[in-house]
Amino acid sequence: MKAVIIGCGAIASRWVRSLLADGRIEISALVDPDQQAAQVLVARYGLNPAFATTLPEALARAAADVVVNLTPPELHYPVSRSALAQGLHVLTEKPLALNLPDALDLVHLAEERGLLLAVMRNRGADPDFLAFADTVRSGGRAPFAVTADTLVTLTGPGFRTGQHLPVTTDLAVHAFDQVRALITAPPTEVTCTETATGFLAAHSSIATVTVHFADGSLFTYRGGYIVDPALRTDANGDWRVEGRGFAARWAPDPHQARNLPQAGPPAYQRCITAMIDALHQDGTLPVPAADNLASIALLDAALASAAHRRPVPVPEVPDALH
Ligand SMILES: NC(=O)c1ccc[n+]([C@@H]2O[C@H](COP(=O)([O-])OP(=O)(O)OC[C@H]3O[C@@H](n4cnc5c(N)ncnc54)[C@H](O)[C@@H]3O)[C@@H](O)[C@H]2O)c1
Repeated sequence: MKAVIIGCGAIASRWVRSLLADGRIEISALVDPDQQAAQVLVARYGLNPAFATTLPEALARAAADVVVNLTPPELHYPVSRSALAQGLHVLTEKPLALNLPDALDLVHLAEERGLLLAVMRNRGADPDFLAFADTVRSGGRAPFAVTADTLVTLTGPGFRTGQHLPVTTDLAVHAFDQVRALITAPPTEVTCTETATGFLAAHSSIATVTVHFADGSLFTYRGGYIVDPALRTDANGDWRVEGRGFAARWAPDPHQARNLPQAGPPAYQRCITAMIDALHQDGTLPVPAADNLASIALLDAALASAAHRRPVPVPEVPDALH
């Protein structure tokens, strides 16, 4: 199969490395209005793709079965939609879309056309985090009080410098994927604030999100783009869970590599391999992104709450699509 990569920024290297290591997908075109970003990838990985600044231009120059959507978050919906509408499978970086109606529209379109639509969820699918979630669910009994701190530093902030509510838009969806593995009751209400800390750096910002759940559980999240590496947490966050007679903590050391060879491939690579496996399976192609709609419902409510400065009910994901 042949893939067009749309968006050749910081995260593209990770995808190109994983696609080259897998070998089942050839990169036929690179799309980016910043042609220098595409050239950097070509030079770094010895690729031989067509170059374009839009998807239609790329399709006029190269064959394609799949679009890999690595654009900034607010372009995810229009780029994925246009790819699906042209009959192409879509593998996209998170978040699937910035609101539930757009995410539902993508899932419906993929189902209608029999196309694969899969979204990256490397933090929610991290094997160590899932082991922690198993410990919580088997050892404790809901309701739970859950807190997570995710404070990260970035070498290249890229689009985040100009992004409205960058932490809520770009980072918090990881925590929404993760908390759904800990608390299985439906979320009911979200309160979110995000404040730019531009006195640290242009992209620096801190968000707080409080989520109430139908079983009485409570999740509070503090996420931020900070500057001093000495203060950062692991990108997977620092998690604490307390229930009646139960307590657990998961706080990977941010200064110690967890992806040792014996631990197997990193979570993002496992996600990409699973997406490519799904593309190559026989019969009707699945729409794994449907499982991510509940995270987008939380993101939708969080962005609305931050914009209107009040608690917002979590929109319901239609039953057939949970
Ligand atoms: N899963 C993860 O752990 C993880 C980590 C980092 C980034 N991401 C996601 O990857 C995506 C990209 O992030 P990044 O860090 O690479 O950002 P970036 O700013 O470094 O790169 C974005 C690229 O998209 C290009 N672009 C902008 N408009 C475009 C358009 N209309 N068509 C094609 N390309 C366009 C920009 O020129 C830039 O090269 C974001 O959605 C982000 O959330 C995920």
